[in-house]
Amino acid sequence: MEKLKMIAANALKIQDNTFRDGHQSIYATRMKTEDMIPIAEEMDSCGFWAIEVWGGATFDTMHRFLGEDPWMRPKILKKYITKTPFSMLLRGQNLVGYRHYADDVVRAFVDKACEIGIDVFRCFDALNDFRNIETCVERIKANGRHFQGSVCYSLTEGGLGGNVYNLNYYMSKARELEQMGAESVCIKDMAGMLSPYDAYDLFAALKKEIKVPLHLHTHYTSGMASMTYLKAIEAGVDIVDTCLAPFALRTSMPAIEPLLAALRGTGRATGMDLHKLLALGEHLENIAPKYNHHLANHKLSIIDSGVLAHQIPGGMISNLTSQLKEMKALDRLEEIYREVEQTRKDMGCPPLVTPVSQIVGAQAVLNVLFGRYVKVTNQLKDLVLGLYGKTPLPIEPELVRMILKKYKRGEEPVAGRPGDYLPPEIANAKKQMGNLARTDEDVLAYILYPASMQEFLQKKYGAGPTSIATIESPQQKKAAA
Ligand code: CO
Repeated sequence: MEKLKMIAANALKIQDNTFRDGHQSIYATRMKTEDMIPIAEEMDSCGFWAIEVWGGATFDTMHRFLGEDPWMRPKILKKYITKTPFSMLLRGQNLVGYRHYADDVVRAFVDKACEIGIDVFRCFDALNDFRNIETCVERIKANGRHFQGSVCYSLTEGGLGGNVYNLNYYMSKARELEQMGAESVCIKDMAGMLSPYDAYDLFAALKKEIKVPLHLHTHYTSGMASMTYLKAIEAGVDIVDTCLAPFALRTSMPAIEPLLAALRGTGRATGMDLHKLLALGEHLENIAPKYNHHLANHKLSIIDSGVLAHQIPGGMISNLTSQLKEMKALDRLEEIYREVEQTRKDMGCPPLVTPVSQIVGAQAVLNVLFGRYVKVTNQLKDLVLGLYGKTPLPIEPELVRMILKKYKRGEEPVAGRPGDYLPPEIANAKKQMGNLARTDEDVLAYILYPASMQEFLQKKYGAGPTSIATIESPQQKKAAA
């Protein structure tokens, strides 16, 4: 009886992110599958709602740095984790790569991900333009898997509110996802910008209207995340993401252990076994020396309190800093921060998440060094052209004309679904690869990462260097045509 009472009727559910976002955040995604195996069975018995094991940067780093076939991790872990669903982070039409892929690639990728054991798909788009997740969703549904619709959390300025990222914005985005058939809706706060009281208002409002379970994903970066979870929990959030303590905090997620302790005896108590989690944490402490050289330790503080002032995500700052270093202009960082704000406004106030954060950041640097939009990157032109989707606010027509003047891909913005502008890719890739591709998995991986995957496959199959022509991306091809 005593034990039963510990699990509240409205128990908070927890997704563990140790095996994906945890090491992606603190160890540059370098954790090897072999170090997950020793605790996999125990993890399975903890009672997590799901365990995130794949997606995000894992596909890239596994083949590039770890010598692992990226498709293998879920297959291997599935042997040890048989009860708990596997989740993955999927960047919509971007999949787990760095550009938009054609629909045939997206369909084949999602089907393959289902086949290797992914159960829950957290789908998002950098512009919150959900036309970019339509093709994924169609295949997730066809395979009978869980579609988690995700809204990137961003701020107009200050906090929740203003003319773009106000309560209405999030309500309508969540509604849109529910109408697309989302079985849960996630607020994805990749930069840790969601403050505790805004979280309360946001989830209280969402809870009143959205029928499917609500999930919160946030990062500890700014130092607010644990407080934010607590307020979101009070407002009724159903599921949150955590990591085991050694892989938590810093730029990662809040730790699970203090959360369990904080909820003990309340109406949201999880009923999970703290001692078991502590033992799992011990394993991570034991393997940590292998990975600690990836830990950012140039500062004493483990949080980035600066983000509270200038609201530029941590990952973006390190990109800006290295770009400025290269151009020997590091002394202009403060100016760049202000210009990022202006450039973002000019671009229709998009969320600062990959790849848009890099596009806006790189342009802000050029604007400061050479004058506003005197030099413009092709990626920014593509963004203005509409190839990434619809920006939250329209871009000034005058600016559009100036930026797209004489652009080879077009001078008139397009308004359709970005995927509709991309011709199929698989057949062409197969032809290019010849006998380097032994499986469909090889072909898909090669489309995502042509250069590094070619090298990986040559090693894998023991072939010498072959003369594969680098595949032109369809966007390039179309533009050139
Ligand atoms: Co994350």
